[in-house]
Amino acid sequence: MDRFSEILFNEQTIAAKVEELAGRISRDYAGKELVLVCILKGAVTFMSDLMRRISAPVAIEFIQASSYGDAILSSDSVIIKRDIGTDIGNKHVLLVDTIVDTGKTLDCLFKILAEKNPASLNAVTLLDKKTRRAIKVPIVYCGFEIPDKFVVGYGMDYGEKYRNLPYIAVLNHE
Ligand code: PRP
Repeated sequence: MDRFSEILFNEQTIAAKVEELAGRISRDYAGKELVLVCILKGAVTFMSDLMRRISAPVAIEFIQASSYGDAILSSDSVIIKRDIGTDIGNKHVLLVDTIVDTGKTLDCLFKILAEKNPASLNAVTLLDKKTRRAIKVPIVYCGFEIPDKFVVGYGMDYGEKYRNLPYIAVLNHE
């Protein structure tokens, strides 16, 4: 049975942080052609909220990485299950994820997208589990640093459950 031990971030706290990050991104990318690349599946909720609060026009793309499954591209232990569908050459690209843990996913995606020759390539994450980092990854926009606890909600799952929770909770699973 799964139990939530605490609500780490409620809806209001998340919304305020998303607003803050979107404001920084809007200022930094003013006058530039920005492509937001959502890392499926966990970043869907964050991407949806973030993009609606960015004032500059944005294009959106989706990419899916996994440590297993049917690979179409690979780097280290992470595989790409779904690649973006448009040309990002000479465009300003911002990878959007909800949580960075070991950094392997982001590292792999940085390498793969860099090969497509974007004008710039950065990342935004709502949560950063910094103590778990195995690979150094450059994250320009970070919402909250969190301890090494298993979190669900706001797009994040445990066995595909809890993605639809509007808040972020710590899960004690047995
Ligand atoms: C999670 C999360 C990040 C990644 C971070 O995705 O959304 O993309 O793990 O972990 P890392 O820094 O150790 O690579 P997950 O693989 O669980 O897939 P999902 O988003 O489809 O749930």
